Amino acid sequence: MTQTPETPLLELRDLRVEFALPTQTVHAVRGVNLSLEAGKTLCIVGESGCGKSVTARAIMQLLDPPGRIAAGQILYHQDSAVLDVAAMDPRGKPVRALRGREMGMIFQEPMASLSPVHTIADQVGEGMRYHFGLTKKEALTRVLALLHQVGLANPERVAESYPFQLSGGMLQRCMIALALACQPRILIADEPTTALDVTTQAQILELMQQLQADTGTAIILITHDLGVVAEIADTVAVMYLGEVVEYGPVTDIFADPRHPYTQALMKSVLRVDVPRVPGSRLETIDGMVPSAATVTPGCAFASRCPEAMAGVCDRQRPQTMLINQQHSTACHRRVAEAQQPAPTAAYARRA
Ligand SMILES: Nc1ncnc2c1ncn2[C@@H]1O[C@H](COP(=O)(O)OP(=O)(O)O)[C@@H](O)[C@H]1O
Ligand code: SF4
Ligand SMILES: [Mg+2]
Repeated sequence: MTQTPETPLLELRDLRVEFALPTQTVHAVRGVNLSLEAGKTLCIVGESGCGKSVTARAIMQLLDPPGRIAAGQILYHQDSAVLDVAAMDPRGKPVRALRGREMGMIFQEPMASLSPVHTIADQVGEGMRYHFGLTKKEALTRVLALLHQVGLANPERVAESYPFQLSGGMLQRCMIALALACQPRILIADEPTTALDVTTQAQILELMQQLQADTGTAIILITHDLGVVAEIADTVAVMYLGEVVEYGPVTDIFADPRHPYTQALMKSVLRVDVPRVPGSRLETIDGMVPSAATVTPGCAFASRCPEAMAGVCDRQRPQTMLINQQHSTACHRRVAEAQQPAPTAAYARRA
């Protein structure tokens, strides 16, 4: 299929990820459908444990063992070809050709993802040498330019440093440089600023936006910060216990959230008794996300939902319904409301 502005760059279709542990199976991602268009930003939000990171890692085939893609497709539209990343061997050459080159990832914890025994120059330059066949010297020239581009004041010194010699903010910028080294078409950033101070957070997000404007990179950003979502998302996916419960353009999600979980998330950041500091986390909804090892027939949010309908929500899994062409949700209440007959003109006049 030829890439057109309407063709998504990436599509997740009914993606399922499981971790088969000795005592139980964790169903971390349960049938996720998402799409990302070239040059756009998709934000994934939801409380801890809802499957955001696992979804992101699955896209790169970087799941920690024993995690595996149990079902579904991850379709990557590469020029005239469509590749199903889900069907690739996580250790095989085809997926290594995509990683770094076509998709870059920024992890939450740079220290955990950078090698402690290699210099920044070696790590940031590795992808350029692997994918473009650059010599070490050629790669270094580009590494220095990139370190400068991500706002590091002294690229030469940073390049020859080992990770333990740098601050958290500097390391996160190095991670961004590494993720961008081969100019990937998709940048996946998993809570890239959570561990940083507010000023550095703002700088890193600005940097990502600037790079997107310059290079047209599509971004998947996982964040707890709805303020950031409002500012930079084109599209928002709200995840709860491994499912996307609401999905749509950022304006629709903020102006007209339809799923009770999205509504609760919105209220949690507007509560007056909770300090509204930038970067504040979504941990103010009563109750807890159930264990991802639990499988119930009904709606996963039923135990916390103020609108739950006994006998319905606890028994049947809600199907995704369209609110409009781009906005969808999975909730029995919304289906029931949509099925209510619209009041006739005469009735409406009497009412
Ligand atoms: N390596 C792992 N082994 C077992 N379970 C895991 C592993 N990684 C993630 N999980 C489980 O998968 C679920 C989704 O996790 P995650 O995607 O990290 O959530 P989020 O990023 O939304 O906070 C959680 O229940 C988590 O405990
Ligand atoms: S399906 Fe039922 S329990 Fe689930 S969010 Fe909708 S109203 Fe609440
Ligand atoms: Mg996570």
